[in-house]
Amino acid sequence: MASTDRGSGALWGGRFNEATAAAAARLNSSIAVDGRLWREDIRGSRAHARMLARQGILSPADAAAIESGLLAIAAELESGSLAIDGGAEDIHMFIESELTRRIGEAGKRLHTARSRNDQVATDVKLWLLARHADIADCLAGLIRCLLTIARDHLSTIMPGYTHLQRAQPITLGFHLAAHAHAFLRDLDRLGDAARRGSESPLGAAALAGSGYPLDREMTAAELGFASVMTNAMDAVSDRDFLLETTGVLALLMTHLSRFAEEIILWSSQEFAFVELADAYSTGSSIMPQKKNPDIAELARALAARVLSDQQRLFVLLKGLPLAYNKDLQEDKEALFDAVDSVLLVLPPFTGMLESMTWRTKRMREAAGLGFTNATDFADYLVGQGIAFRDAHRIVGELVRYASDRGLGLEQLPLETLQAADPRIAEDVYAYISLEACVERRTAATGGPAAVAVAADIARMEARLEELRR
Ligand code: ARG
Repeated sequence: MASTDRGSGALWGGRFNEATAAAAARLNSSIAVDGRLWREDIRGSRAHARMLARQGILSPADAAAIESGLLAIAAELESGSLAIDGGAEDIHMFIESELTRRIGEAGKRLHTARSRNDQVATDVKLWLLARHADIADCLAGLIRCLLTIARDHLSTIMPGYTHLQRAQPITLGFHLAAHAHAFLRDLDRLGDAARRGSESPLGAAALAGSGYPLDREMTAAELGFASVMTNAMDAVSDRDFLLETTGVLALLMTHLSRFAEEIILWSSQEFAFVELADAYSTGSSIMPQKKNPDIAELARALAARVLSDQQRLFVLLKGLPLAYNKDLQEDKEALFDAVDSVLLVLPPFTGMLESMTWRTKRMREAAGLGFTNATDFADYLVGQGIAFRDAHRIVGELVRYASDRGLGLEQLPLETLQAADPRIAEDVYAYISLEACVERRTAATGGPAAVAVAADIARMEARLEELRR
């Protein structure tokens, strides 16, 4: 039988007579995925050993040997002079056996009052809390970029759409601020998830805690957790933090994907609202004229990955009894993929936004077509005492008339308008100018008037700084 040095030869091999079959070991091993947790694993082990010594469970000499052994391993892994053994079972086993190989007996005492179950839960949480900070940095960068561009375009008229049909005039500042709101909520949610996730599982051991007088608050504080998980079984079973975070990331990527879709449309020749910088677009291998919005398309595509990563975690967990089951080993790949995807896409997405050219003349022209001022025309009639439903019908008829002649409402002569309803006067033209349509929509209705959006941007900036503290 093909075999490895695991099974009877493993750190847990006492009760085994035979080695693990090679094929079984291949399936069982997670080192290819969890190898990247080595920093967190070493941090957790150092905190654990220090606590054991403080509590009189480990001798000071053993604790010192463990500390220096782990520091040496960390330094060598960092420099590359030590490579992670791809044949090891997982990162926890690799580091423990490497430590024992170096320092002997003391290394074998490190795992006192600990299980890989609390160890892995701790490592993953430490890793994810650190990535939270990275994601928050990238997301804040995107929001700042949006708010800056929005402030530059408080009076840049563009068409607002419903059903992807021109609906009412808005401004580019208003539109970008809408996206900023969604991302700001994501940043807020990220903070919520991190707050709830900041509870240490370490010391929960296998599932039932430990009979040793552990000081779990000490390891929690040392590792930067806000508190400890007080039920050991919950501590080793729970993966809520992964689900919450990937949930936030799925939502964030959904927001990014919707925005990406707009950029893809806007950069088409049909819209031509934006031109992407060369640095953030690509060409075609066959069609010389092409300039493709690949960054936006990949943002849309990575949303599919992140959504399915979270789905994978839910499906993984839904049938699992408490406490640890080996299935849980599979949680990391999905988590890493979601986090990696978000960290990969946010910087170039922001770069693409910062560097693109806004074709404001085209936007203004497009807003002038498609009768985007029709609602305001109806509102004008309401101001003349006409019921809104009647006003709606009158303007609808005028739209049909103008449309048949290839004209805008504002291009119809006053006699034509007055034939539709004699209460229409000369002042209607000023009333239905695109600028007037935008500017009468003030803060009270969350509208696109420049002052309203400027105030909204200021509020968002304040909130952003609050969330970043
Ligand atoms: N590699 C395992 C994982 O990632 C570590 C925990 C193993 N625990 C156990 N009781 N087999 O989940």
